[in-house]
Amino acid sequence: MADVQAVILAGGKGTRLRPVTVDLPKPLVPIANRPLVVHQLIHLAASGVTDVTLALGYNAERFRGVEAEAERRGINLRIVTEPVPLGTGGALRYAFDQGAFDDRPLLWINGDVVATPSVRSLTSFHADRDALVTFWLSSVRDVSEFGVLEVAEDGRVERFLEKPAPEETDSRLINAGILVLDPHLVKRIPADRFFSFEKNLLPTLVEGRERVYGRFDGGYWLDTGRPKHFLMANRHVLEGRVQWWPAGNHTGGDLWQGEDCKCEGARVIQPAVLGDECVVEQGAQLFGRTVMGSRVTVRDGAQLEDCVVFDDVEICEDAVIVDAIVCAGARIGPGAVVAGSIVGARAVVGEGNQLRGVRLWCDVHLPKGALIVG
Ligand code: GTP
Repeated sequence: MADVQAVILAGGKGTRLRPVTVDLPKPLVPIANRPLVVHQLIHLAASGVTDVTLALGYNAERFRGVEAEAERRGINLRIVTEPVPLGTGGALRYAFDQGAFDDRPLLWINGDVVATPSVRSLTSFHADRDALVTFWLSSVRDVSEFGVLEVAEDGRVERFLEKPAPEETDSRLINAGILVLDPHLVKRIPADRFFSFEKNLLPTLVEGRERVYGRFDGGYWLDTGRPKHFLMANRHVLEGRVQWWPAGNHTGGDLWQGEDCKCEGARVIQPAVLGDECVVEQGAQLFGRTVMGSRVTVRDGAQLEDCVVFDDVEICEDAVIVDAIVCAGARIGPGAVVAGSIVGARAVVGEGNQLRGVRLWCDVHLPKGALIVG
């Protein structure tokens, strides 16, 4: 038995990533054609962690396929679904009350982060200091959107600031959403009510000089909460900047393809990931850093670059998709331009529309030439 158990918090609404998250919870968004949380499970399995709890809420029923993925990788997955959103702390307490945790240190991972921390060195750092909480820290230039930690030489957290102004702190170390807890700490979270660990308990622990530590090892980290970062995460996996692997058969170079893909005569510049049964017609061009889900059709003359296209999408003749997310079941009409934008699930972008910097909601149908934004 591994000496650590894990919990992945995956019950948030993902409002910043809408409309992508209207149908699909953020932990299930595809990163190089594999749900984000499945990448996390693969990393946990490779790190020897076999007992994992998935704490769900919003759109919990969409996670059904994850159980089989966990089983395939030798993980005992326990799913706990909150009846109402309880926040990060409340989610931990609810899982605890359902009997999800034992006495081993608890590795908490937010279900929306791309990272490959060394679980072994983090847990031994935690054990060596007999810590209550140990943060796996990341470092960012602009800390104003994050929980910032001021950490002493020995790793002790001396101050915690939530979303500080630049003049409030010199620290660039942030809570990356990956931490190890003494599982008994969860008993200090009130039961059956909304409770944020970061806002309601962490400041008390730090101010009370309890054993809260942080460890920075410079490892890769990205939070996929915003569209820009979701696209960046896909790009970084394709470029090999993080040790997560695209789905599909690696057919040489930086190209991954699913079963029954057809792209003869098309220009496919790598890196690219194509799902099952994709058709890229002769005359279509993929200019690199393109991810396509299953059953995507790209018609003659269409051009794609730096984009993530989900399942069952049709991209018609001469359409241009750049720096964009196209959700499942959408149709991009002939000659339409989608740049720096998101097209929601099942939306139809009629012929000749130009979307720049736009989020088109799910199921919206734009008639021919209706919208030129930019
Ligand atoms: P935004 O609405 O865009 O802020 O996204 P979010 O709802 O995912 O919130 P946030 O990014 O702060 O959440 C961090 C992690 O905690 C994500 O993996 C969420 O799925 C998860 N999470 C947030 N709130 C809850 C909750 O109430 N219950 C559970 N189980 N998980 C939660």
